[in-house]
Amino acid sequence: MVRRVVSLGGGALAVLGVLLLSPAASLAPAVSEKGELPAKCSLAGSWVNELGSRMVISPANEAGLFSGSYLTAVSASANAIRGSPLQGGQHLASDGAQPTFGFTVHWTFSDSTTAFVGQCFLDEKGAETLETMWLLREQVATQAQGWKATRVGSNVFIRVK
Ligand code: BTN
Repeated sequence: MVRRVVSLGGGALAVLGVLLLSPAASLAPAVSEKGELPAKCSLAGSWVNELGSRMVISPANEAGLFSGSYLTAVSASANAIRGSPLQGGQHLASDGAQPTFGFTVHWTFSDSTTAFVGQCFLDEKGAETLETMWLLREQVATQAQGWKATRVGSNVFIRVK
């Protein structure tokens, strides 16, 4: 059997040392050069997801409650799509730079309701993303049809402005 020994020069060891000892910059939210605290990920504003659905969320109140509007790009209903109201809440804790949240959309053009839960993430450049999962409940005629009444999925929203 042939064994190969790889030797690291002083330069390579120094680079390795820096990499091992440096903070996990790619895992942490952006910190300014002045050493300011990381910015908070904010839900307020306009967002679009990978389906092309758009939503606008108003600034949360002191309790973390917010409202907004949702214009879906797709629908399980045959009705014409219309903008629909949303209502939700987010955590506001002092360490809540990347808060969890939940909101429901009361569809105005169908009998369905969607509940979204998710988390607002800041990347290393300070860009915000809303990672969500949702349950879409449609109305069925009888309790016996309940088994087919709920869809589940995920959406990722990026900020439009
Ligand atoms: C309906 O089909 O009755 C109402 C519209 C539902 C749209 C769903 S909600 C989850 C998913 N994400 C979207 O942006 N649109 C679909």
